[in-house]
Amino acid sequence: MHDLQKIEQQSKKLVDEIRAAGLKAPARIIFGVGVFAQLEKLARELAGGKPVFIITAPFLAPQAEALLRVLPGEVFARVEGEPTVALADAAAEQARRLQPGLVISLGGGSVMDTGKAVAALAVNPGSVRDYLEGLGQRTALAAAPLPHIAVPTTAGTGAEATRNAVIAAPDAGVKRSMRFDGMLPAVALLDPALTLSVPRAATAAGGLDTLTQLLEVCISAKRKPAVTALALQTLPLVRNALPACCEHPENLAARSAMLLASFISGVGLANAGLAMAHGISAALGALHGVPHGLACGILLPATLRYNRSACEPELAAALASFLNECTVAGASIETGIAEIERLQRQIGVPGDLRHLRLDAAALQKIAAGSMGSSMSGNPLPMNPENTLAFLQTIS
Ligand SMILES: [Fe+2]
Repeated sequence: MHDLQKIEQQSKKLVDEIRAAGLKAPARIIFGVGVFAQLEKLARELAGGKPVFIITAPFLAPQAEALLRVLPGEVFARVEGEPTVALADAAAEQARRLQPGLVISLGGGSVMDTGKAVAALAVNPGSVRDYLEGLGQRTALAAAPLPHIAVPTTAGTGAEATRNAVIAAPDAGVKRSMRFDGMLPAVALLDPALTLSVPRAATAAGGLDTLTQLLEVCISAKRKPAVTALALQTLPLVRNALPACCEHPENLAARSAMLLASFISGVGLANAGLAMAHGISAALGALHGVPHGLACGILLPATLRYNRSACEPELAAALASFLNECTVAGASIETGIAEIERLQRQIGVPGDLRHLRLDAAALQKIAAGSMGSSMSGNPLPMNPENTLAFLQTIS
């Protein structure tokens, strides 16, 4: 069977398992080359006769404008990096004036996160900051968010499968989530053809984010058997497909495998916890602007070694799966981590933080800023002191 067909078949099997296990996931999951053509029909169904509000990145504005030729609505094409409070509030303000019936996000994780926040804020009062975990005072949404169709154009965060939006609050020097059940997109429209033009660096960083998420959901203190089962079936795809996407960007089968892996990693993190690579990545992003996927990719091998004693059987199983080995042997751990390091080098990602030249004060701030919800799922209990000691070993 053709590789592409195999992956589409695997996507159906995994979606069946998601439903059978009752995991939180978009009500409709549509995966396959060419499914983007269904967007107009889906949008008409969900918008209830009202305008649509499309969130996207500047370089995708022409595609979004093209949709407006067939769907009434407006475009917000200003999401260039990971969203800030000011950006999400500006998008929400435009949405409140338009009063759309549907939000469509067309882009990467930052765009989809903005879409999730705006779908909620369009029909609820206040700034996004009021709803951020650990920063704001509002702990519930008065009105259910608008329906949202998430259309990823990159493989990485799996943001189309999650119910949180990560927003940077530069005044507080942190990134925090706005997180409510109703923020889960109604539809994940997953068309691998949309990811063919992603540049190499973003492909590598996104793929490492996916890999980190798939491994961390297996070892997290908040792990769940149904999520681990999904991750173990998805990890073998990543080992071959990630370098293939970097070396041969037009390889549609490899792009399909990574988009599917990214989506499953998102389902994983929405239903189980992550671990310290994600905890520290949040601080590295907020304080030093290191892109999320890159930060995860740098930290992954060292954090797996650090946690080994606290999650040996789970880590061995996950890495055996990644290596596509049938046997779960202790040797898989070292071989698996070494393979991740080889992958890092192949796709040009550093293995430590030395290039950032962080001084003692900077490391202390990163350690203190790493204590978000991902860190609370780390196999070894973490605090700012042991996080600082870990950071010193890779800086
Ligand atoms: Fe991530």
